[in-house]
Amino acid sequence: MPERAVGIALLGGGVVGSGVIKILADQRELLRRRTGLTFDIRHVVVRDPKKHAELHASLPITTDAAKAIDDPKVEIVVELIGGTTTAGEWIERAIKHGKPVVTANKSLLAARGAELFTLAKKHNTAIAFEASCGGGIPIIDALSKGLIANRIDALVGIVNGTCNVILTRMTRNGWSYAKALEEAQKAGFAEADPSLDVSGRDAAQKLALLASLAFNARVVESDIHVEGVDKIQPADINFAGELGYVIKLLAIAERAPQGSGFRVQGSAARNSLNPEPSSSLTSMSSVVSSLRAEGRTLNPLYLRVHPTLVHKDDVLAEVSGSFNAISVYGHALGHALFYGRGAGQMPTASAVVADLVSVALGTTPLAFKQLQIFPDATSPADVLPIEELQSRYYIRLMARDVPGVMAEVTEALGRDKISLSAVLQRESDEGQYVPVVITTHMANEGAMRQALKAIDSLKTIQPPSVCLRIIDQPREFGGG
Ligand code: HSE
Repeated sequence: MPERAVGIALLGGGVVGSGVIKILADQRELLRRRTGLTFDIRHVVVRDPKKHAELHASLPITTDAAKAIDDPKVEIVVELIGGTTTAGEWIERAIKHGKPVVTANKSLLAARGAELFTLAKKHNTAIAFEASCGGGIPIIDALSKGLIANRIDALVGIVNGTCNVILTRMTRNGWSYAKALEEAQKAGFAEADPSLDVSGRDAAQKLALLASLAFNARVVESDIHVEGVDKIQPADINFAGELGYVIKLLAIAERAPQGSGFRVQGSAARNSLNPEPSSSLTSMSSVVSSLRAEGRTLNPLYLRVHPTLVHKDDVLAEVSGSFNAISVYGHALGHALFYGRGAGQMPTASAVVADLVSVALGTTPLAFKQLQIFPDATSPADVLPIEELQSRYYIRLMARDVPGVMAEVTEALGRDKISLSAVLQRESDEGQYVPVVITTHMANEGAMRQALKAIDSLKTIQPPSVCLRIIDQPREFGGG
């Protein structure tokens, strides 16, 4: 096997950068034996060299990014500084030199992916981004290569380690949200700005990248309905547990089922809160024409990130701590679960080094050039408004324990055609406010919102009521 030394520049010497340095040093011989490649770190670009003096005493530390990127001995540029401004400028600079870039930067790619990919193609080079989603799990590789023969119908994932650590601790230790967040930060999982994690935005950025590949449609962060974990209360974790569920922050991308009269008609009649199921071919064809007139496809997507009640028997319910898991439903494969460490130094560094090898071997550049699945080569996704979603719901109301309250609540739900599945209320002193928990059968989100508004305006209810979605294992995708 011909052997080759590859010069690289590392932009960023923080947590993940140090992990990359460690793998390249410790596994130098293994990588050489397996790939014929050795990686020489020619520059490590950091903002404050004093901070890195001990750790990288033997490394070429610099603050001069331009010099590092422009160095003719540097073949591949690894961007690990995060953020969108400086990282974007440095990546552009590398690309304009025709140098491939390896990055973990989901924020940047979720916002400017199509533009940067176009630029990279123009300069006959490539961007590799395995480390941007799912930490060490090779999900980008799976979606772009291993599952290429599948029409993907849905992707349901736990893709934010910090939120999963928080929810796991709240569930297992009975901690408050604030304490669980503090512990997650101490453990080093959270982003520099933890609001990116807890607001659900980090998960949405990852979903934008994953859904773009899975559905070959350009998804950007703003296409995604996002709710974070910052409002989750221990009471809801406990009630969910009693009902047989755990609360997880899920990132979900799914195709509206083809030929599903209900959803398709719902999407055409976007202002209607209660679309009636379509039953005839005639009405389907009028729906098709109206969708075409709107410039929409027959397979629009629902894209959402939110805390979700997941049944305890669901495999995702078992995913705890900083682990991530992504369920993918392909028409040929059926259900596949990609599970592993979704955050942290070494798992993320593992993905970065995998990209370095693929780029140096030429496999990533070839796929990048040939495959028409990246956001520069696809059309914007046809995204359905969340109001059209069909879901089951968990509602927690604070209701005054007086005669007639339940009748008023069920009347509000019934008016919007929402059918109850379970009701839970504890005994309390008459006249006091007590939590009442209701789960519903499948209902329309728009209708649910309308009913909640009506419920929260009742004199006997203390607003705001809590409303969370329930997901049942989508067995209908890909067969059981
Ligand atoms: N803050 C992210 C997480 C790190 O918690 O998942 C990996 O993207």
